[in-house]
Amino acid sequence: MSRFYITTAIDYVNGRPHLGHAYEKVLADAIARRHRQKGDATFYLTGTDEHGQKIAHAAAAAGKTPTAFVDELSQTFVSAWKSLDVQYDQFIRTTDRKHHLAVQELFRRLKDALSPKTGQPVLYEESYEGLYCEGCEGFKTEKDLDEEGRCPEHKVKPREVKETNFFFRLSEYDEALLKHLEAHPDFIWPDYRRLEVMNVIKGGLQDISVSRPNLTWGIPLPEEIEGGEGHVAYVWADALLNYLSAIGWPERKYSLWWMAKNKDVGGPGAARQDEFKDLDGQGRPGAAWAGTKEVYYTNAFHLIGKDISRFHCILWPALLLAAGVPLPRQVYIHGFIYARGERMSKSLGTGADPVEMTKAFGADALRFYLLDSFPTGRDGEFTVEQFVEHVNTHLANKLGNLASRTTTLVNKNFAGKAPAAWNPDAFTSDDAKAGFGALLATAATTATESPKAWEELRINDALEHVWNVVERANEFVDRTKPWEIAKDEARRDELATVLNALLETLRLVAIWAWPVMPAKCEALWGVLGLPGTPGQQKDTDAQPRFGPGDEHALGESQILFPRIDLKSIAGA
Ligand code: MSP
Repeated sequence: MSRFYITTAIDYVNGRPHLGHAYEKVLADAIARRHRQKGDATFYLTGTDEHGQKIAHAAAAAGKTPTAFVDELSQTFVSAWKSLDVQYDQFIRTTDRKHHLAVQELFRRLKDALSPKTGQPVLYEESYEGLYCEGCEGFKTEKDLDEEGRCPEHKVKPREVKETNFFFRLSEYDEALLKHLEAHPDFIWPDYRRLEVMNVIKGGLQDISVSRPNLTWGIPLPEEIEGGEGHVAYVWADALLNYLSAIGWPERKYSLWWMAKNKDVGGPGAARQDEFKDLDGQGRPGAAWAGTKEVYYTNAFHLIGKDISRFHCILWPALLLAAGVPLPRQVYIHGFIYARGERMSKSLGTGADPVEMTKAFGADALRFYLLDSFPTGRDGEFTVEQFVEHVNTHLANKLGNLASRTTTLVNKNFAGKAPAAWNPDAFTSDDAKAGFGALLATAATTATESPKAWEELRINDALEHVWNVVERANEFVDRTKPWEIAKDEARRDELATVLNALLETLRLVAIWAWPVMPAKCEALWGVLGLPGTPGQQKDTDAQPRFGPGDEHALGESQILFPRIDLKSIAGA
């Protein structure tokens, strides 16, 4: 059994959840469910990022106090994830008291840490003049901007600010970070993202402001920091800490999820805790020891979007090194879902509302579309037409049709019970034999290839394997024409064999597709009259067991995957 700790980015609550947010949370949910299904001890963390200038301004614009505003908005994320069947273990809010204390502890540690190259305090105060983009919550240099001097992400001109800030000596962490990235090529995934980050580091890092004066909406620096009165933590130094504060840091119990023993590590990219000794002088190494001589490995898996990779792959590990905390196991950077070429975000006024879509089409149609139609991690273009086409083809026409054909035939010919006979030798036509062989072979391939694809986070590939089996099963029906066989009493065994093969196919599909479509697969499981749930089935149960039925009664039939009529949602 492995331990698996998965986190998503925590969303800004300056607007309601959009499809991009939903994509990330659903992706993390499917990965977490897959780990739970394998029997791994799994902890899935998500939440909301509630401090910073952007939120303070959004609250003011709404005529609300920041507290009232974030309470209301964060609730819209909680309920969106509920409607999408996102089963997290904890929802953290950066306004939580425990988080507040952890951020202050980070600053205390930074205050005592010395920089790796010159041995100077990593935290220092300096007056600063720069361009601040509120959308990014980050400072920009001229070369980061487009020809019109705007932030290319948010299409607004950054504001000129002049203030005295506390800086973190990030510029001295380049060697340590490169060394870690070279030793752990899986630390940033996919690989081309790792190369992008390495180029940024090689281009030179600049010290970064980690406090903001004149802002009240944030976490005050702890009083131990001289001159820190009136400063709040920079929103990124605050937000990133959520991954630790949620699991109990700075108390030692955080290592339960942050670290794992060798064989309990939940995936690639892990580093031995004692490797961080080699990065000595980065701060306070050793502070994170789990209190035993046993060797531990890093185990946190961060799932984030491509726009925030530098914060997670450069600033975050450097802060951790300075604070004496081992680095995460892996940062997985996913792409963006675009709507008609524009980013879906409230500030640009575009976007399909995931909650409205869920109400109209159900959580699983949207989950399936998001995870099946875009190669995992790559950018994708959302259109309503493609969504409808995808759901109709793969769910209504392929899986839905297979389920309804199968149950109708079993109900009609075997009084709704899984038939007892099994005799593949009864197939006389070459067509039937070929169809049967193809179905069994594809199921066997999927039983090995689908878990492999999940391991490598190629979820669309895993689903493609599963739908190959669905297609072979539908072809098998077309080739054997069971409704014809049913007319001939002498061919009962042949009919029973066809239907048992189809029932077994549906059983497997319900298990395999469950992490992506939990509710529909559970409903299908009920229709098949099987005990327990597909989520409880282990990988040994996900192996093909083609053979005679046990005459158990199927559940009540239902239309699991209705067709969507594009005309009925015109204007959606
Ligand atoms: N609050 C920060 C993250 C702090 S994590 C310590 C933030 N919030 S966000 O609301 O702007 O974005 C939250 C997540 O959603 C990020 O991982 C971001 O990349 C992702 N996405 C935002 N728009 C997206 C799409 N259009 N498509 C896919 N993911 C997108 O950044």
